[in-house]
Amino acid sequence: MVIKKICCVGAGYVGGPTCSVIALKCPEIQVTVVDLCKNRIAQWNSDKLPIYEPGLDNVVKACRGKNLFFSTDINTAILEADLIFISVNTPTKTIGNGKGRAADLKYVEGAARMIAEIAQSDKIVVEKSTVPVRAAESILKILSANQKPGVSYQILSNPEFLAEGTAINDLINADRVLIGGEESPAGQAAIEELCSIYEHWIPREKIFTTNTWSSELSKLAANAMLAQRISSINSLSAVCEATGADVSEVATAIGLDSRIGSKFLQASIGGSCFQKDILNLVYICECLNLPEVAAYWQQVVDMNEYQKSRFTAKVIQSLFNTVSGKTVTILGFAFKKNTGDTRETPAIHVAKTLLDEGATLKIYDPKVEEEQIYCDLTHPSVCESPEKVKKAITVYQDAYSACENSHAIVLCTEWDEFKTLDYHKIYHEMMKPAYIFDGRKILDHKALIDLGFHVQTIGKCLQRPLLTRFCGGTSCMH
Ligand code: NAI
Repeated sequence: MVIKKICCVGAGYVGGPTCSVIALKCPEIQVTVVDLCKNRIAQWNSDKLPIYEPGLDNVVKACRGKNLFFSTDINTAILEADLIFISVNTPTKTIGNGKGRAADLKYVEGAARMIAEIAQSDKIVVEKSTVPVRAAESILKILSANQKPGVSYQILSNPEFLAEGTAINDLINADRVLIGGEESPAGQAAIEELCSIYEHWIPREKIFTTNTWSSELSKLAANAMLAQRISSINSLSAVCEATGADVSEVATAIGLDSRIGSKFLQASIGGSCFQKDILNLVYICECLNLPEVAAYWQQVVDMNEYQKSRFTAKVIQSLFNTVSGKTVTILGFAFKKNTGDTRETPAIHVAKTLLDEGATLKIYDPKVEEEQIYCDLTHPSVCESPEKVKKAITVYQDAYSACENSHAIVLCTEWDEFKTLDYHKIYHEMMKPAYIFDGRKILDHKALIDLGFHVQTIGKCLQRPLLTRFCGGTSCMH
């Protein structure tokens, strides 16, 4: 089979960018991205794409209407496709067995059932969503149980390693492409078909093929290892704050060791897109009766939670232990810069705690829509009284108005524009004493202190006598 038509089920942060790049690099292949959500597809077909990702607009503009299509006509796309990517969401289960940890595979299962119902010819079905190990087996069972005569399926695992904010570059210059499949001749042939798509732009030596289960587990393992590095440096940031060490210096010092390397050693406020995948790994370990392994990875998640609450507690403590009746500005709401995605963002944790303590919040993010912020902060898991929350928050379209008359600024996302704001102007328009809590370590702290701000950050004591604990217990001045 030579792949002429591809269908991608799920037009989200993975399906959209991945298939846009495939269309760009494989002009002879027709790529159709489908979704159940009409609004999302309409946005993909408009000038304002549903997700913000640097470079994505240009790729979509170059291919849309030529060999790249976004559609809600799932039937036609599946019927015509030789190869189908499943790129649907796999959130953490919120109810039932494994609630709060296991991946909810209902969307993957839904996609598999749709394919089984519609397909009339042989298909290669590629699992791109991040799934538990052996999820491909469930997909195959659903497809086989509903198989029409003469139709056969090959299931491949091809997890996605792109990071939001750098997705286009990650896709075009991927470190590696991982493809897992059956060891049978038919499985190997399907792997070759998918390899031939990536080989349009990825050198063959960067395409790594494995058995299906290794491929599925590798995705969870990669995210767990990355999260572990972040949790490790974050744990050390607490030690730095208590001792006078500077976590940035520690990170540079240890990162210079070639066995360790410098990437993913940036301490921050916590929060990441890894949580759901590690929780999924923990759940798998528990199901496999490996409690020690489960506890080991659970600690990585717990350390991330601890970092978020430690930071928020510091904000409240610094503001004389009460934020009730005070106005706090949250700069940045996305979970990282260069994306509008707010899933698992630490800003939700910070906002929730401050709201619970009675603060009024002024929020600004360059790419997160106002509606999304309201939706996140009035979600039942965050608040009991949406009306009360709506009254306590205002979303602004620029940073300056968001900071006016505030008692404190809490910087939650490392957007570049926050580095170059006119903090002199901001200082003069804030309540005094004016506080800045830099949760991402991106600001010029010395300059801010010189302007009159009280500044706190992660992993470094900026404005209190060092080693208070070891030098006679002088109390913290800020
Ligand atoms: P998303 O939530 O942005 O997009 C998923 C889309 O699938 C939604 O638009 C939803 O409407 C659609 N969908 C669900 N069921 C459907 C069905 N039966 N038919 C048609 N459309 C359906 O999710 P995102 O972020 O793109 O993630 C997808 C998968 O990729 C997840 O498993 C995630 O863990 C994984 N992943 C995500 C990365 C990221 O940075 N967002 C990176 C690497 C992997």
